[in-house]
Amino acid sequence: MPGRDVIEQLGSGPVILPSLLLCDFANLQHEVEQLQQAGIRGLHLDVMDGQFVPNLTYGMPIVDALRKVTEMPLDVHLMIEQPGRYLKAFANAGADLLTVHLEACEDIVSTLSEIRSLGMAAGVAMNPSTDIDRIEPALSVADLVLVMSVPAGFGGQPFEPAALEKTRQLASRDDGEWILEMDGGLNLETISPCRAAGAQWLVIGSAIFKQPSYSDAVDALLAAANS
Ligand code: DX5
Ligand code: ZN
Repeated sequence: MPGRDVIEQLGSGPVILPSLLLCDFANLQHEVEQLQQAGIRGLHLDVMDGQFVPNLTYGMPIVDALRKVTEMPLDVHLMIEQPGRYLKAFANAGADLLTVHLEACEDIVSTLSEIRSLGMAAGVAMNPSTDIDRIEPALSVADLVLVMSVPAGFGGQPFEPAALEKTRQLASRDDGEWILEMDGGLNLETISPCRAAGAQWLVIGSAIFKQPSYSDAVDALLAAANS
């Protein structure tokens, strides 16, 4: 399955994925180079539609632009209503992994299956307010489970510790082949409990992009994750 390649390429962690929400979009290529120099091996892209979440960001053209300047895996987090309408477009733009929100899909199993059939790895995300039981049907067809530790929509929100329990529950299962990712409010203090709970991929926005040196920020975050 081609989509699994990206999962194997990045490995089971800890992997830090910078969220390109707060980066300098006027100098995207330079940002990517700086991140690469900081040891980053994959990028997390937050696509928001102003409907599923109040915020509006970017779509296929930015994925396409990034694809042209890097071979790093692109982990695309769709925070959009009825994501099924755009799966093929994101595949064509160069996404390697496409994560859809459980709350935004009428039929999560068929959406994830379609993502896989388009050659991408398939991720399912859930918001902090979503009951963990609702994710059950998705688990048999997911390559990645994204536990949101803030309500999807904005960078810079405070970490919600209740997400740790969800991660712990998912990590304790022995029937899954999915990667566990956490996203939202991760920083030098919160990254260590996320790792301890079982998170493998760690999405980080402010704690990288609001720092003067990406390298120093990534080194410190990895040290904290491994502590
Ligand atoms: C929130 C996004 C996150 C966010 C992370 O909806 O999915 O990826 O940008 O940013 P921080 O690390 O600042 O919470
Ligand atoms: Zn995200």
